[in-house]
Formats: sequence, structure tokens, C-alpha cells
Amino acid sequence: MILKIIESISEMQSEADSFRMAGKTISFVPTMGFLHEGHLELMKIAKSLSDKVIISIFVNPTQFGPNEDYDQYPRDKEGDLKKAAQAKVDIVFMPTTNEMYPDRYQTKVQVAEVTQHLCGKSRVGHFDGVCTVVAKLFNSTKPHIAIFGKKDYQQLAVIRQMVIDLNLDIRIIGAETVREADGLAMSSRNKYLNIGERQSALCLKKGLDLARQIFRNGERDGSVFLHALEELVKAHSFTEINYITICDPLTLEKIDILGDKNLLALAVKVGETRLIDNCLLKV
Ligand code: PAJ
Repeated sequence: MILKIIESISEMQSEADSFRMAGKTISFVPTMGFLHEGHLELMKIAKSLSDKVIISIFVNPTQFGPNEDYDQYPRDKEGDLKKAAQAKVDIVFMPTTNEMYPDRYQTKVQVAEVTQHLCGKSRVGHFDGVCTVVAKLFNSTKPHIAIFGKKDYQQLAVIRQMVIDLNLDIRIIGAETVREADGLAMSSRNKYLNIGERQSALCLKKGLDLARQIFRNGERDGSVFLHALEELVKAHSFTEINYITICDPLTLEKIDILGDKNLLALAVKVGETRLIDNCLLKV
């Protein structure tokens, strides 16, 4: 099988139409490239669920804030295409920025509530950019199924809400977080970490483990968790807490007293690199 690389939206749409007309099901994995095992896991799930797999590689400018890392975001086209070929995907959709956002482009997709918590608080407009590009990618690749990672838990929740609200006929699948051997959640941004920061970055996973242990011991007072995690993170060099929050896994609204199912999410700057992680705390 030869990997097909498509840059044009209209060509992507007609390929997707041909798959559908031939009775094939399509799974889609959107990415910003610099592919790692986490991305590859989504592709594996995609392959197991459908006849055809389309991935996209597009570093979407509209989801980066003015002081964020759009320009430095790691890119490796050749490496990515090799990995996509090894993963046996059918099509890599790689539109240019101008193809996605031509002159006079003027539409945004905005999910109102679930975007207001966690990362939405400090990354204003980020999820508008994500929803807009994902809606456009869905309309380009016409999938039956789309797979997103739970590492970006809020992104998955926001996309699920968008799909419901806009009546998109696409099944959204959430995939478990893939980690390095020492527990750090894989991320294209891990590349930014120097040796010392890489060591400190383990505080996120250690925080999740500590919270699970406190939960197992029967504690349900949210402030006890937050205090313990703050102490743990602060004990690591180069760290600056963006947020540590326990919230409802569906609405992402903050919870003070934990119930049977809770989401713990944290965002920590390690040096200049902002990292996120999360886990469910449930009985
Ligand atoms: P990107 O960060 O490249 O991630 C692409 C997909 O891979 C997302 O669904 C993300 O949750 C998933 N992913 C990343 N790291 C993972 C890990 N360690 N384990 C499992 N899945 C992981 O997320 C984006 O790109 C963009 O916002 C995008 C959806 C493509 C829109 O531009």
C-alpha cells in the first residue's frame, strides 16, 4: 500500500467521497505532527475500527495565543511521513495554512461552557481555534469515526460537545494516554525540556499517583488533595503551577468535595514548557 499525501481540501474531499461510495468506513486522527507513540496509538485504534485511516498534520495557527510557541512548534515532515507509512495509514492530509485559512477567511466555531475551565482560563481563544480547525478537518476528511487522546482531556470533552451541538454524524473515541517508561505523558512539547527540566517534569505523573493514593485512602476533601499536590510540584525545580483542579469529568466544573467519579487535571510550566496531565479518581 502506498501512502497518499494530499494538500488540497477539494482533493481530500473527493478521496473521502470515493471511500464512502465504495462502502468503506473512515477513521480520522487529527494531529499537529512531530509524531510520537501517543499519536501512533491513535492510528492503531483507528485501523482496528475502520477500513480506511486518514490522519492530518497541520500546525494550526489559530489555536496558539500571541505569546505561545507557534513559531517554535517542532516540525518533522520527513520523519512524520515515515512513521505514518509504517503505521499503514491510507492518507496523510497536510494542508498549507493558506489552504485552511485563505484571504477573507472569517468564521469561528465556539463551544461556550466546557471551554471556560482548566486550560480555557489561561489559553483564551485556544479552544475556538481547536474547534474551528477540527470542524474544517472533519469537513475535509468526512470520517465516520475520529480518535482523540485523553491526555488532552478538555479538548476531547470540547470536541464531544461540538459534535453533539452541531449534529455531526461522527463517532468520537477517546484513547488512553501513552507514557514514557518513567511515566511522563508523551507530548511533542517534551522536546523543549532540557535534562534538569525533564526530571522535574515527572512531578505531573507523581502528582496523579499521589492523588490516586489519597483517594484510595478514603479522603474526599478536595483541598487536602490540592494542598498535597501543590507541595509535591513545588518541591521540583523549574516548576510553576498553572492549575491543579478537581472537577466534574463531564462539565469540568470545579468540585470541592469529591464524589464517585472525579477528574484531576493539572497544568505545570516546567522551565518555559507548559505540560498537562490528568486522571480520573473513581471508586
Ligand atoms: P497534537 O498535540 O498533535 O495531538 C494530536 C492527538 O494526539 C490529540 O488527540 C492528542 O490528545 C493525542 N495525543 C497527544 N499525546 C498523546 C499521548 N501521550 N497519548 C495519547 N494521545 C495523545 O491535539 C492536537 O494536536 C491539536 O489540538 C488538534 C486536535 C490536531 C487540532 O489542531
